[in-house]
Amino acid sequence: MSNKVDPSRFTKDFVWGAATAAYQIEGAVDKDGKGPSIWDSFTTNPDNIADGTDGIIACGHYDRLEQDLDLIAELGLTAYRFSIAWSRIFPDGKGAVNQAGLDFYGRLIDGLLARGVRPFPTLFHWDMPQALYDENGGFMARDTAYYFADYAETVVRALGDRVKSWITLNEPWEHTFMGHLEGVHAPGVTRFDMYMPLMHHQLLGHGLALERIRAATPDAEAGVTLSLTPMHPDTDSDKDRAAARRLNEFLNFVTLDPLFKSQYPGELTERFAPFPADIRDGDMDIISAKVDFVGINTYQRAFAKHDDATPLLQASEARGEEPRQTEFYKDGTLHSTMGWEVYPDSLGEVLGWIRNDYGNPTVYMTENGIALDDHVVDGRVEDPLRAQYLEDHIAQIQSAQASGSDIRGYFVWTLMDNFEWAAGCEKRFGLIHTNYDDLTRMIKASGYWYRDFIAAVQKGS
Ligand code: FCB
Repeated sequence: MSNKVDPSRFTKDFVWGAATAAYQIEGAVDKDGKGPSIWDSFTTNPDNIADGTDGIIACGHYDRLEQDLDLIAELGLTAYRFSIAWSRIFPDGKGAVNQAGLDFYGRLIDGLLARGVRPFPTLFHWDMPQALYDENGGFMARDTAYYFADYAETVVRALGDRVKSWITLNEPWEHTFMGHLEGVHAPGVTRFDMYMPLMHHQLLGHGLALERIRAATPDAEAGVTLSLTPMHPDTDSDKDRAAARRLNEFLNFVTLDPLFKSQYPGELTERFAPFPADIRDGDMDIISAKVDFVGINTYQRAFAKHDDATPLLQASEARGEEPRQTEFYKDGTLHSTMGWEVYPDSLGEVLGWIRNDYGNPTVYMTENGIALDDHVVDGRVEDPLRAQYLEDHIAQIQSAQASGSDIRGYFVWTLMDNFEWAAGCEKRFGLIHTNYDDLTRMIKASGYWYRDFIAAVQKGS
């Protein structure tokens, strides 16, 4: 085993998992009473997706549940993070419950437990029920926070006897920014004025759901998953450093501050003063109620530069790379097929924020991984760059632990190659290769590396 990561320094109860999201793997988008979501609608226009694909079939996971459960067991995962499609449970987002939807996740959970794998469901991973969106604009409306809490309670009452770890939201910032400001994700809206309301209504939904989860299943742990991407200044100039501070507030502290300090970041609030959120009495207490853990998704760092052309923020991203067909090196540094720089220190940096500035709550790394141009050659997928990526990031966890961080688990994004939202099916992040022609799966070399690593931790060697 490498000299960077010492498996014996992880406690045996450290959770080793992989993560997925419903729309990215399930397919069966209208089966057994599921209602449409905004992602079903968004992908009807192939121009919205880089390779024109959609999630109608995706990995066909819904109809291949047993096989995928066996693969999870073969990888030796001790936990599995998946998301529940809101519109499988409430086809209209509210109102009548679809029992068949609950039964599907019940089977998934039972299958995990039978294999000794701990379920970590996420209640919202961006697939807003279309009916609710049509009614009120999804999280653009305050009411949706309350509908989300009702949905959460229904799910937890049905499945909470078997699930002991709940995640309310996945990456509220991405849902806001990519879906409603840039418009490159569903629902494809470009409403800069909706930034603060969308953030606030999602966080309120999180807090309201947390109350219901606690009431329904007091012995479970519950938290929220955030994407954290450290913004570094493009140059050392005062202006770029100030721009990086603003973009850190815009991307990162906009979730961390309300959750852990009960307020939105100061400069951000001032800059967005023309388009404020409707923050009512008591909201901030609900949002900042103590979570049992914070889930962190980190993939990369990014760079910020001062930019007078950007309204309100006067800052924009610098040095961003476009996605490519294959991974590539720039200035000697590996970049994934997403165009994302590989920079393991970014993980250490965000863990440092959590430890030093946010009261050192319990952390699960709920996503981390890399998209590579993987191919099956002679019946194998050799992806040493992915194993290296995982090892380098796990090393960051180990050093953060040594500095006092309370990190209890790590989830690789992702279990199997899947529908990577606007980037389509060409971006392969999986530990398992998906053949989209016949939906066969094949564990990649990195999957076996991860399996062996987990086994080494458990042996204490
Ligand atoms: C995260 C998402 C996840 C996947 C990875 C690559 O932002 O939560 O669904 O798209 O990025």
